[in-house]
Amino acid sequence: MSETPNLFSPYRLGPVELKNRIVMAPMTRNRAGQGNVPSPLMVTYYEQRASAGLIVSEASQVSQQGVGYPGTPGIHTPEQVAGWKKVIEAVHAKGGKIFLQLWHVGRISHPSLQPEGGLPVAPSAIAAQGQLFTFTGMQDFVVPRALDAKEIPGIVSDFADGARHAKAAGFDGVEIHAASGYLIDQFLRDCANQRTDAYGGSPQNRVRFLREVTEAVIGVWGTERVGVRFSPVSDFNSMADSNPDSTFGYAAEAMNQLKIGYLHVVDPIGAEAAPGPRVTRTIRTRYRGTLIANGSYDLQTGNAALASGEADLVSFGALFLANPDLPERFARGGKQLNSPDRPTYYGGDQHGYTDYPFLQG
Ligand SMILES: Cc1cc2nc3c(=O)[nH]c(=O)nc-3n(C[C@H](O)[C@H](O)[C@H](O)COP(=O)(O)O)c2cc1C
Repeated sequence: MSETPNLFSPYRLGPVELKNRIVMAPMTRNRAGQGNVPSPLMVTYYEQRASAGLIVSEASQVSQQGVGYPGTPGIHTPEQVAGWKKVIEAVHAKGGKIFLQLWHVGRISHPSLQPEGGLPVAPSAIAAQGQLFTFTGMQDFVVPRALDAKEIPGIVSDFADGARHAKAAGFDGVEIHAASGYLIDQFLRDCANQRTDAYGGSPQNRVRFLREVTEAVIGVWGTERVGVRFSPVSDFNSMADSNPDSTFGYAAEAMNQLKIGYLHVVDPIGAEAAPGPRVTRTIRTRYRGTLIANGSYDLQTGNAALASGEADLVSFGALFLANPDLPERFARGGKQLNSPDRPTYYGGDQHGYTDYPFLQG
């Protein structure tokens, strides 16, 4: 007889035993050091949050071409691997589990961040709207260079190398970042992908790049320790799709066929929710494995998502950023919560990073 699960129920994620179903969502914090190497401050930050059932690390670029912001950690040099090793050892010493999020930003970059000042790359030569933060202040997004199909295997192999490096560092698994308007999401959604070759057009074709990356990463890790993240209705980084249910229904089915370890779906339920139907329910019917729900959840709505079977695990972003002991705070009723301080989200020092107080007593 299985009891109704809640956030405190343990969970078996393939071979990875999670002590609860509270996942720390991936969050870019721009505190990496010189050479995009994970810093000692990052060791403290992740160690403080090791009571999560699972931590998904901040997005980490698989190549120099995949960089979109200052101070984000990478997973493509020996120094970066050594830096991550210290983070992982600290999390493991506290009984935590941690996956690395593998990242390539695609068009969300700038020549000043690219190798030899080149243009960022994307499925199609369509610029994102607005500006991005660079070493020289805010800059307009540039029109990216559309990738030649011949270049795609090289990027797939950068993801495989990132996966290999993550394994060497000692992570418990990896999550492929296919959300938030970065390279893989740019291929998935038709606002950014207007290719006429085998990587554009139908959902089948737009999912091809994700499928190739996922197969390559599974080649390194096996199926069970590989997760994938989607944000079907998020408009972040000026993204949109003409039919999210169709695109992400198909993408979910493709991930089901590949038997990945989990799907992580950003589909907000709170004040920031996009108008229109949520896509998680469609995904749930097309993907039969572990589903992590994300987007404005709290103790009550997180427990409800688990009890109804909508999700198997729930991830928390801003709440975990501001509450290093979030599981303990939830266990005590979830009323006493620190508020997240937005001005210190991206970059800076320990302030707004490792100095959020723990509950007393
Ligand atoms: C500071 C910050 C950084 C983020 N960085 C990432 C990231 O690196 N990768 C990612 O997939 N999502 C990122 N996100 C999105 C979160 O993982 C999450 O989807 C979002 O905060 C909504 O969840 P919440 O309502 O529980 O905060 C970030 C969010 C915040 C607040």
